[in-house]
Amino acid sequence: MEQLPIQMVPPLLQWYHTHARELPWRGAPTPYAVWVSEIMLQQTRVEAVRGYFARFLAALPTISDLAEAREETLLKLWEGLGYYSRARNLQKAARILVESYGGQLPASFAELCKLPGIGEYTAGAIASIAFGEPVPAIDGNALRVWSRLLAEEQDITKAACKRECFRQFQEVIPPDQPGDFNQAIMDLGATVCTPHGQPHCGSCPVSAFCTAYALGIAASLPVKPEKKPRRIENRTVFLLWKADRVALHQRENQGLLAGLWEFPQVEGHLSPKAAKQQIAQWGYTAGALQRAPAHTHIFSHVEWHMWAYSAQITGGDPQVDFQWASKQEFHHQFPLPSAFQPWAANLPWKE
Ligand code: ADE
Repeated sequence: MEQLPIQMVPPLLQWYHTHARELPWRGAPTPYAVWVSEIMLQQTRVEAVRGYFARFLAALPTISDLAEAREETLLKLWEGLGYYSRARNLQKAARILVESYGGQLPASFAELCKLPGIGEYTAGAIASIAFGEPVPAIDGNALRVWSRLLAEEQDITKAACKRECFRQFQEVIPPDQPGDFNQAIMDLGATVCTPHGQPHCGSCPVSAFCTAYALGIAASLPVKPEKKPRRIENRTVFLLWKADRVALHQRENQGLLAGLWEFPQVEGHLSPKAAKQQIAQWGYTAGALQRAPAHTHIFSHVEWHMWAYSAQITGGDPQVDFQWASKQEFHHQFPLPSAFQPWAANLPWKE
């Protein structure tokens, strides 16, 4: 099998030193800041993370602050970022660090891999950026860049392919600048060697070493299996008011959006009549039902196609455990996933 050419390293680093994106977690970050940024960046775009990162570190400036934070505080800081188990694992790991590691991150790839929420990619990123360990950080970007450099036509979602990619990057990663090297690959993947359509090979610092470029096949790599289409779920959301408080429901501790809050919702698209019956089933009587705007929210594997109704509750004998949140509580106490933000942003609060 072909190998990555070591000659690509100097032009790649030189490119990074002039073209690196300015990101709030670059410069001279603490290991804790690198860790938080890398967890936020798992499955989330750099642009979406920017604001969250600064707010998170301002609220929880040390590992022990994170270990001691209330879950509500933590989830509120994560509200809208998605994949909330990342935040819970971050805290679990912080507690382990406080108990067993003197409140510090361990400075090695192997030890980092043992912590909750830290897989090989994240361990590689933290070990190289925060501690200077020459270990690769292989994510989708690195796999794409690698598959193009070598015109590799294996399915990059296969573990064997990822292992080979890791091994080959390990061979060329410069021991004196491993963090810059890994971040150069990340930036190259994000801005030049882009997915979907034609990459920007004209601006690539390593195109001279790229077999896919030489063969004119960069756009058709990497090879991945077809994605399964997302499952579509129809749902009906209820904006229920009791005077100036709105009903919220806490989701189960398992599964999608575990433990987060939501407007009460049920499966299916309910007619106004069926919606009124649903409210009665919850044990409430309601005034006239109004249709609210419909919204679709896309998760990685599911799409929620949501209809919505609003109503004033006038009485009843509740059979369910809703929280009735004031405006203040709604904004500060209950972490609400992005799926519900289109309504949350437009609630008719009385001032
Ligand atoms: N994606 C994940 N980690 C990153 C980093 N440190 N810089 C840029 N993009 C990233």
